[in-house]
Amino acid sequence: MMESKLSKKALKPTILLYDSGMGGLTIYDAIRRALPDAHYLYCFDNAFFPYSEKSEAVLIERAVAIVQKIAEIRPLSAVVVACNTASTVVLPALRANFRCPIVGTVPAIKPAAQISKSKTIGLLATKGTVNRPYVDELIAQYAPHCVVEKIGTTDLVEIVEEKQQSGVVDWQRLEKVVAPWQNHPTLDTVILGCTHFPLVKAELQQLLPNVAYFIDPGVGLSNRLIELFKYFPPYPEEKSINTAFCTQKSPNFPQREKIMQQWGFEELVVLDLE
Ligand code: DGL
Repeated sequence: MMESKLSKKALKPTILLYDSGMGGLTIYDAIRRALPDAHYLYCFDNAFFPYSEKSEAVLIERAVAIVQKIAEIRPLSAVVVACNTASTVVLPALRANFRCPIVGTVPAIKPAAQISKSKTIGLLATKGTVNRPYVDELIAQYAPHCVVEKIGTTDLVEIVEEKQQSGVVDWQRLEKVVAPWQNHPTLDTVILGCTHFPLVKAELQQLLPNVAYFIDPGVGLSNRLIELFKYFPPYPEEKSINTAFCTQKSPNFPQREKIMQQWGFEELVVLDLE
């Protein structure tokens, strides 16, 4: 059985993760393995899905509104921005507005540059993420000796969301997204720079057989949280169930509710952000 990494005497932390959709569940999955005793809240901002091409101002406004609203309902021990597109923009605003630890996930340029043998790496991320100055800085800092190819895509986010809802993968659309890399002579490492993308990792491996390494988002995030909880002790909580939130009641609400229950969230609540 997995040993809890939180001290037995410590209160259980309540960790809020948010994303535009289901992608952040890949981050949640990694964190709950490391911190199985924590309480989890997960918000998917379906009213503003996809985030890929949304402006920085909109992403910041959504981040602050979502965290503010949920913090009024449940005391938060930490916030995880389980989305690369948002993390490359919203972290300073969240840290300025909330006192609990705020962590995010940004493209894993450093591990990719270290593991690649050909020193040719691919960044597969949303359109917003591949164009962020934040990402250029990461490349200049950790991969100046590498060739970094980029594919910015909104299609792949939608393909994954559809797979999560219906179980069906649109292979034709998927192949079109990665076509520029299918006959690449040296590319050996691909960074999954969007939290949705590990949900089609097997399909990507099949379409890009020459790629030896696929680097998942959120590498090391749970260790960072465990470290932070030493300095920011969790708040006591009366309510202790895992709750999922969405930002609009869509026609597929019952299916969404079922999916979230399968991931361990007992209820799905619509947040009123107006
Ligand atoms: N899952 C998100 C990310 O990691 C964004 C998906 C979207 O574009 O909505 O970037």
